[in-house]
Amino acid sequence: MATQMKAPPSDKAEIVDIPYAYRDLVERTSPGGRYIDAQTDVDSPWVPFGDSAAIKHLAFDVRRNLYSNILWVKGPGVVGTHFHRGTITMVCLEGSVRYLEYDWVASPGGLILEVPGESHTLVTDHPEGCKLFGWMEGPIDFYDGDANFVETVDVFWMMNHYEDYCKEQGIEINPKLYL
Ligand SMILES: [Fe+2]
Repeated sequence: MATQMKAPPSDKAEIVDIPYAYRDLVERTSPGGRYIDAQTDVDSPWVPFGDSAAIKHLAFDVRRNLYSNILWVKGPGVVGTHFHRGTITMVCLEGSVRYLEYDWVASPGGLILEVPGESHTLVTDHPEGCKLFGWMEGPIDFYDGDANFVETVDVFWMMNHYEDYCKEQGIEINPKLYL
């Protein structure tokens, strides 16, 4: 019977040379792993998203229409109803947040999953608002308060949001953000 691992099999703090037959293909074709700092603006600035929120863009992957960022709502506030056409994975980093559609309140460390076909109205009642890390796939349709469609936000919207701000501020585009 095959063994079942109960714990990591090595605690050796050294790089072990793992045999893998296709390493040359990985080296040739993979975008590669990377680290994006989020504590400072060195890798990516806070880009205003309206008057009371900002987005720190962390990754753009055009092949999967995937984008990662931190959304910072700077005080009690709302991100109005929007409709998801992809899957969203978010972690509350600071403050708290809830959706009017649900009865839970997310607190730091908690995982928020959103799936295609659902719409959400994001509210933070916390005096310091919230910071939300997001790993998001697919388009998000934004509506005004009267349910009129306004715009679809996707990886290209996010990229443009980041690049426009960098150009305006004379900040160099960071190639690390592009997978
Ligand atoms: Fe949402």
